[in-house]
Amino acid sequence: MNTLSNSQLLDLSTNTAIVTGGAMGIGLGIVTRYAQAGAKVVIADFNAEAGAKASTDLNAQGYKTAFIKTDVSVEAEVNAAVDFTVSTYGELNIMVNNAGIYPTVPIMQMSYNDFEKVQDINLNSVFMFTKAAAAVMIKQGKGGKIINITSVDALHPSSVGLASYDASKHGIWGFTKNSALELSVHHISVNAIAPGGILTPGAGAGVELPPAMKEVMEKFLAKIPLKRLGDPDEIGKVALFLASDMSSYMTGSQIVVDGGVLLS
Ligand SMILES: NC(=O)c1ccc[n+]([C@@H]2O[C@H](COP(=O)([O-])OP(=O)(O)OC[C@H]3O[C@@H](n4cnc5c(N)ncnc54)[C@H](O)[C@@H]3O)[C@@H](O)[C@H]2O)c1
Repeated sequence: MNTLSNSQLLDLSTNTAIVTGGAMGIGLGIVTRYAQAGAKVVIADFNAEAGAKASTDLNAQGYKTAFIKTDVSVEAEVNAAVDFTVSTYGELNIMVNNAGIYPTVPIMQMSYNDFEKVQDINLNSVFMFTKAAAAVMIKQGKGGKIINITSVDALHPSSVGLASYDASKHGIWGFTKNSALELSVHHISVNAIAPGGILTPGAGAGVELPPAMKEVMEKFLAKIPLKRLGDPDEIGKVALFLASDMSSYMTGSQIVVDGGVLLS
């Protein structure tokens, strides 16, 4: 019987996390919840201006965060982000693979390079960060948590034009299950969160979307049973649950957080 209180279960103060794509949107929602739970958090993002600002703003509120400019599709930069985390904070306990792109391009207009770029950033990065982070976690011998951000599109296509994206997100879900199997012997859990309809800069928050993307978003909104878009913090809260002892008996699972959109 576990005797930890609820607040102890959610306390991450002995943990260090990396969140890829943590400069804005869902990633920043996750970074903020982890920092509030006491974790040291490294934001690994290729947007240097937004990443440095996010870290500076959080540190001004008393939290412990750092930023490293990282293109998640470049192996040397992935390894550098993991090395930076260990040299800055001494450990790595939580790895969140969140960075992703979702260009809308029909297959008949898609080049091989278009397809490959989406796999490089969305899927191949998850392999590279999992390998580098797990190597550190195994060496530490204290287990760890890996959390992969998939999408409702890992389960069901949301619209035409997202074939490369859907391939990458189905790929992450498959990789999540197999890496959970392989890493369980090291007490490293691997789980996924499948968001749907979260209002972020990439999904159009605060910017004028190109017409094709606007149409996708409008059709998507009409299908959401809760009749609103989600907030990045609504993914941050679930990511906190998966990083904490609250989820101690979970590995190889995917939690859908989509306002019910998969029901419609
Ligand atoms: N917003 C949604 O409704 C939604 C739904 C399902 C899944 N998701 C997934 O959630 C994740 C975050 O989405 P979001 O809506 O917050 O996106 P966003 O575009 O608002 O933010 C993405 C962040 O990732 C960073 N990034 C992009 N490419 C990168 C690269 N090569 N290297 C490092 N950083 C990079 C960007 O700089 C940005 O800070 C993505 O994996 C996305 O597929 C989002």
